[in-house]
Amino acid sequence: MSADGIAGGPPPGARADWTIDQGWERYAPGEHRVWITLYERQAALLPGRACDPFLRGLEALDLHRTGIPDFARINEELRRLTGWTVVAVPGLVPDDVFFEHLANRRFPAGQFIRKPEQLDYLQEPDIFHDVFGHVPMLTDPIFADYMQAYGEGGLRAMRLGRLHNLARLYWYTVEFGLLDTPEGLRIYGAGIVSSRGESTYCLDDPRPDRLAFDLMRVMRTPYRIDHFQEVYFVLPSFQRLLDDTLQDFAQIYRRLESLEDLPLRGSGPAASE
Ligand code: PHE
Ligand code: FE
Repeated sequence: MSADGIAGGPPPGARADWTIDQGWERYAPGEHRVWITLYERQAALLPGRACDPFLRGLEALDLHRTGIPDFARINEELRRLTGWTVVAVPGLVPDDVFFEHLANRRFPAGQFIRKPEQLDYLQEPDIFHDVFGHVPMLTDPIFADYMQAYGEGGLRAMRLGRLHNLARLYWYTVEFGLLDTPEGLRIYGAGIVSSRGESTYCLDDPRPDRLAFDLMRVMRTPYRIDHFQEVYFVLPSFQRLLDDTLQDFAQIYRRLESLEDLPLRGSGPAASE
């Protein structure tokens, strides 16, 4: 996602919208190997765990063929399917820049890949998280529309001073969302599908709560970024997500002014954000 409070303009070498060339021909063989290792691990885990739209998107984009994928090649297919493109950025970008890209159906993806000793965790989203995690869902027409609407909604939430509430919606859907299907719970969140540990934990571990998706509740629930989630929200369908978020959030933000944040679980004191 985007970074809070980055001051000033783009770093040297980046364009005004923070994009850079991917420079695909400059990745080292060891960097391609990191991609292939991560890809193979997740591709083995995810059938029967990730939802069909994710798995179909992964196939359609053929994200394993060359090691780290070339955005130019991904974009030919993605543009044809839903009109989205992936653009390279050096790392986290300011909120307004991030939302502006989404509103124009461009997904900003980190250009760099993690080091071999960071296979299981790194704080900043790299190309594996951003492309393997996020891009397959952008091939789904409904989810593709939701992501664009989220970008427009982000710009608006900034103007209304409610970005902290809207960011929770992104967190509990785009990053850590689960989907209810006739075959059982399935993953669609990018933060889960790109993590070996969490892609089994979120479905199999008895500890986390798995609550039915409720927009108001999501916006009142803080989250932790340094830990597997203590709560997941389960959607009945992506259409439901799109329908719920079509409403005018200015009214929702007004209601939130007089409501407190909810504890992460049970009725104890709220866990701190
Ligand atoms: N409908 C929201 C608004 O009025 C915009 C939005 C759409 C936000 C989709 C998030 C996701 O601000
Ligand atoms: Fe992400």
